[in-house]
Amino acid sequence: MRKLPAIESDYLLELEELPGYDEGRVLWEEAFGRSMPLRIEVGVGNSPFLIEVASREPGYNYLGLEYSHKRVSKFLLKVHKAGLDNIRMLQLNSDRLFGDYIPPGSVDHLFVNFPDPWPKRRHEKKRFIATERLRLAT
Ligand SMILES: C[S@@+](CC[C@H](N)C(=O)[O-])C[C@H]1O[C@@H](n2cnc3c(N)ncnc32)[C@H](O)[C@@H]1O
Repeated sequence: MRKLPAIESDYLLELEELPGYDEGRVLWEEAFGRSMPLRIEVGVGNSPFLIEVASREPGYNYLGLEYSHKRVSKFLLKVHKAGLDNIRMLQLNSDRLFGDYIPPGSVDHLFVNFPDPWPKRRHEKKRFIATERLRLAT
């Protein structure tokens, strides 16, 4: 039987509970409990990408962002099975982080694989690969 809540408490972060949040920043190394450069994937989805990179290159803190709770739960089960302690997840829209809690220049790598294309003009504002979002994220 899957023990998701227990697994989630190991890997799932709550933005409002992170160290530094009340002062309008996040102390990421403290949040991970290890002092390593930060790598972020936006829109983890159902992909094992972050697990593969975190296994191959362990000398980083890996933060996955995904707003679907179902995908987060499935992903965390895979993280648990892989026995990795260098990955954490936040279940939220990445817009909540960049610019405020991820200061410019503080990320070693930003991964965005197969972002939702949102091809319709009226959905343009939802695209992650958009000038303003990339400005805030870099
Ligand atoms: C097309 S899927 C790609 C998933 C994965 N990167 C892959 O390569 O298979 C896009 C994923 O990103 C998530 N997503 C899109 N925009 C997001 C955002 N701004 N913040 C968090 N998650 C987002 C969606 O929920 C979805 O799971």
